[in-house]
Amino acid sequence: MQVDFAVIGGTGVYNPKMLSNLKEVSLETSYGTVGIKIGKLDGKDVAFLARHGAKHSVPPHKINYRANIMALKKMGVKKVIATAAVGSLNEEMAPGQLVLIDQFIDFTKGRIQTFYEGEEKGVLHVDMTAPYCSQLRKVILESCFPDIKLHSKGTYVCTEGPRFETPAEIKMFKMWGGDLVGMTSVPEVVLARELGMCYATIAMVTNYAAGISPNPLTHQEVVETMAQNTQNLQKIIMKTLENLDTKQQCLCPAANGEAGNFA
Ligand code: HPA
Repeated sequence: MQVDFAVIGGTGVYNPKMLSNLKEVSLETSYGTVGIKIGKLDGKDVAFLARHGAKHSVPPHKINYRANIMALKKMGVKKVIATAAVGSLNEEMAPGQLVLIDQFIDFTKGRIQTFYEGEEKGVLHVDMTAPYCSQLRKVILESCFPDIKLHSKGTYVCTEGPRFETPAEIKMFKMWGGDLVGMTSVPEVVLARELGMCYATIAMVTNYAAGISPNPLTHQEVVETMAQNTQNLQKIIMKTLENLDTKQQCLCPAANGEAGNFA
């Protein structure tokens, strides 16, 4: 079955409430098996994948990012909208608000970030000038509602987790130009680009980051803020899916054109 669009739900987004006629499929990839739900929205087939599992049982450093992205590719997915819960380093990006991230800084430690592992698999130095698809980001921005605060850009610092950061780390990330901190966008965004898929992330600010917030951080706080504002995320995602088509005006599908061409 060919499915053009996918949603990857992060923390707090485990059910594709926006889709009807849901069915579950299990996809085999050479990296592992992935459970995906497929449903309909506005006549379109849409795949939904819960990044941490349906019951948030997979921590960020153990997510099988390659299997997830490969499974979507095998279904024919061309455009992926991901959600992410994030802490904020930027006073202007307040809890409850959304940010359409446009850059990342990678502070992960041991994650495999590529499908191109050399030898017969080839080598690829994929371009990350615009890591999140600018065309897809444009459609998302145009699909927002006047009463929902969606910042049009922001730099996401990806940490290894699963622990939260220290205030000293947050101070450093801020000096580097980071706006937000989270644990999952890398390598997901990189792998999607390697396979030529358009990918964008709508981040939900759930808390001010460690040391900016006067209180110790808890996962409970993250989940509660997500729950209070998840409807805004759903509304934007639904409108975006309605407005999306499969025409590619961007460079994403050509991103792996150089793979293996280094001889
Ligand atoms: N740090 C890292 N990841 C997060 C945070 C945070 O403060 N909030 C939500 N996800």
